[in-house]
Amino acid sequence: MFPIIPKPRNIELKDGEGRLTRDDSGGANYEYVYDPDIPYEGYSLKTEGTHTVLRASSEAGAFYGETTLNVLDDMTGGAPGAFFVSDSPAYGYRAYMLDVARYFFDTDVVMKHIDYMALLKLNVLHLHLTDDQGWRVEIKKYPRLTEVGSHRRRTHIRFKAHCGYYTQEELKKIVAYAHARHIKVVPEIDFPGHFQAAIAAYPELGCCGEGLRVAENFGVKFDVACIGNPVVIEFMKDVLSELIPIFTDEYFHIGGDEVPFRRWEKCPKCLALKKSLGADSWHRVQAHVVNELADFLAEHGKTTITWNESEPTGVQNKNIVWQYWQGGLSEEKLAHEINEGRRVIMSPGEPFYLDLPYSINNVARMRAYKLVPDGVTAAENIIGVEFPLWTELVPDEKQADKMLFPRLMAGAEIAWRGSADTDIEERFGRYLAVLKRMGAKISEFKKEPRGFMKILDRIWWFRRQLYWGAVPNLIRNIKVDKILKKRNGQLKSDD
Ligand code: ACM
Ligand code: ZN
Repeated sequence: MFPIIPKPRNIELKDGEGRLTRDDSGGANYEYVYDPDIPYEGYSLKTEGTHTVLRASSEAGAFYGETTLNVLDDMTGGAPGAFFVSDSPAYGYRAYMLDVARYFFDTDVVMKHIDYMALLKLNVLHLHLTDDQGWRVEIKKYPRLTEVGSHRRRTHIRFKAHCGYYTQEELKKIVAYAHARHIKVVPEIDFPGHFQAAIAAYPELGCCGEGLRVAENFGVKFDVACIGNPVVIEFMKDVLSELIPIFTDEYFHIGGDEVPFRRWEKCPKCLALKKSLGADSWHRVQAHVVNELADFLAEHGKTTITWNESEPTGVQNKNIVWQYWQGGLSEEKLAHEINEGRRVIMSPGEPFYLDLPYSINNVARMRAYKLVPDGVTAAENIIGVEFPLWTELVPDEKQADKMLFPRLMAGAEIAWRGSADTDIEERFGRYLAVLKRMGAKISEFKKEPRGFMKILDRIWWFRRQLYWGAVPNLIRNIKVDKILKKRNGQLKSDD
């Protein structure tokens, strides 16, 4: 068996001997040959006797060839036998997302996750940097974002205060570390929803920011950015302007998911914007501001990504890449959008979210998922695949590693090959020692629970609804309704 994950696309095992020798730094020796016929990120390896040749046309391809060789060397004690491998990825965008907003993971942990990604040939790290429960990135023009927005008074797991953020210098370090491993970094500033930490820091960013704290519980919050206030768009442009020189790769993510329109419906500024645009729905108003930010990013050479439900078909700028997570969008509508030219990253919550319990998102379900929805005729617009780890219920590295492994390995194979091979689970075992040596906090791989344990696992997951924030949302709503009603009244009498 060739134990590598992701499994190379073509493997020929040959008769005869194949042994690897090592250089002074412990890496396997090979002869490098530049070969322009090999696809970008692809490579070939040929080992016969004690001679190995690695061919590639790009530095990334050479890096992946070397990774395959070194893992093979490690797992076979330097005697993999004679073989020929030729390999290249099915998708150019092979991503993993870490939500550092709900719980903060420091620079060292992020770099460790980058190491895991490199081992598995994933090439995009999506950092979910801001949310209702925390703003995790230093913005020099708005110091309160981290002074206030990075502190949560208590969490629902340990009932303790939680805080943390990355300085811009730390983010530069993360980006450089990722680049050295051929990994791009996509920052996400979630907007206009999941924005409560920013409003807590600067109340004028909300339709009614009075008395709002960084969220302590989870779920979808009603207090979103006041898109009718020009100050908010300027704020977003200022934030993006500070991040553009740090995140030097092509893509920027500006969220767009789970935006309730409740505040906008009662906010004079938002109502005025809707009227001035002649918009027949709040979706259109949201599309207008998202398009403005996407145009701003495009002027700086960036491509914008948003979660899929941020706009309905036909309204949003076609250059914006959608990250499909579901968000109320049927696969039929998704297929239509893809065929119309929308580029899409596939990260369906079920089965690709790595925070869901193993009883729901297991390897078998991940393997069975069809990456190209029925009805898609322009599959080339599916640029890649992503596996997000949301951290509402993942307070530390240990829990993160439990949720990641073994599923991230299956994910990496899906991203690389377009599907995970039938023997993927048999190949997990040998990676345990490798991951542990890299510092993973696991003693064994998590298994899918069976029987009664499966039911318990699901109950454990659904219990989160109990503290997902519905009641605090409703209580605050009564207060905000009163304030906004008073303001609307004042507005009418001022007219
Ligand atoms: C999401 O899961 N709200 C993108
Ligand atoms: Zn507003």
